[in-house]
Amino acid sequence: MKILILNGPNLNLLGKREPEVYGKQTFEEYFKVLQAKFTNVQLEYYQSNIEGELIGKIQEVGFSYDGIVLNAAAYTHTSVGIGDSVKAVETPVVEVHISNTHKREDFRHVSYISSGAKGVILGFGLQSYDLAIQSFL
Ligand code: DQA
Repeated sequence: MKILILNGPNLNLLGKREPEVYGKQTFEEYFKVLQAKFTNVQLEYYQSNIEGELIGKIQEVGFSYDGIVLNAAAYTHTSVGIGDSVKAVETPVVEVHISNTHKREDFRHVSYISSGAKGVILGFGLQSYDLAIQSFL
């Protein structure tokens, strides 16, 4: 089973970015925790701050991998392009967010990803990624 975790803009700063919202752990550290837990899953991790690179990655793995765990970060609320690519591929996509976006500013209540996603998991901190992986097993 092959699953890609795909993180969007500013998530490379996890650990130092608004720790009161996103926690103190870097994603690289947490990725090791996930790899140690899901030993029978081939987990891959990719992060980009660039919309087109995220679309390129979805297209690249989207006809061969078993799942994509996507945190499109701020692009969630703006990107018709990423939303369309989620709909274009065969691989199921689970949308995740670290924070509960519905408790935050109004502009975060809109998602261009959700309508094409298999499901959405949000508000559980980094554990949102763990729950998303479990949803594919
Ligand atoms: C986020 C929520 C988004 O609104 C925000 O722009 C992010 C992170 C989250 O994981 O909680 O960058 O996707």
